Amino acid sequence: MLVFLNNRILSLDEANISPFDRGFLFADGVYESIRTYNKKLFRFRDHLDRLKRSLKETRIDFKELDSLENIIYDLIKKNNIEDEALVYLQITRGSAISRTHSFPKEKLSPTLFISAKAFKEDIEEQEKGVKVILQEDIRWLRCDIKSTSLLPVVLASQKATEENAVEAILVRDGLITEGTHTNFFAIKDETVFTAPKSRLILEGITRKVVLEFCEKFKIDCCEEFINKDDLKNYNEFFITSTTKEITPVTTIDYWTINKGEVGKITKSLQSVFKKITEDY
Ligand code: PDD
Repeated sequence: MLVFLNNRILSLDEANISPFDRGFLFADGVYESIRTYNKKLFRFRDHLDRLKRSLKETRIDFKELDSLENIIYDLIKKNNIEDEALVYLQITRGSAISRTHSFPKEKLSPTLFISAKAFKEDIEEQEKGVKVILQEDIRWLRCDIKSTSLLPVVLASQKATEENAVEAILVRDGLITEGTHTNFFAIKDETVFTAPKSRLILEGITRKVVLEFCEKFKIDCCEEFINKDDLKNYNEFFITSTTKEITPVTTIDYWTINKGEVGKITKSLQSVFKKITEDY
């Protein structure tokens, strides 16, 4: 496997970062996960805009954004990835020997790391649906920034794995925010609900695509928080992300929804998603 690290394509043995990298010491960095369809990076502009925003909000001074697209395609090519690729891109504030919590005085050069691996979505999960569990949202109050500081997510996600669930859905003050690495949707009376854009969720690119579908196909849609205690008033649920696409949720904790059947509106959104990605 070859990776891109600070202007060079390297083998894993050669790719080393300083232990003083602020990404390592403070999780002082931001990231993106992007996938290809028909070998083209899906909604690359949206990912780039979100990355720019994360960099701006964290005040990481990374200037070479315009070169990223070519670097990524080159890395995919050099890794001889035959079908589709999943790209991980991380930028940290850089390395500084003075371990100060505030930004170091010396001028830092941000660390850029990119990997590209072969990727295939999980068809069975998408057809049959998955189990999720509810967990308290103990993350910080800037979940709109795609920060590499993910310890609360790691712990909630591990709890899901231990309970044979695919995702943990996070609840803050009784309201559902999102999954650890997905956005969450619920449907009631043919209306699609998802948490509003705010500092409490990441504005997922797949979420955005689903909202565009709702508008285009005149499906009622409401960006409103779902109360955890009202979940049983909804009859369809799904999660979205770059890797999960639109994955139906058929079990929440111990509640099996609709006898485990995937809902009608979820299925139609999945088929539109499939069509646009097949034609991408
Ligand atoms: N996660 N919410 C959170 C907290 C996320 O981490 C992600 C993405 C999403 C969905 O965003 P998108 O549709 O743009 O993938 C929502 C990526 C896949 C990750 O952590 O690797």
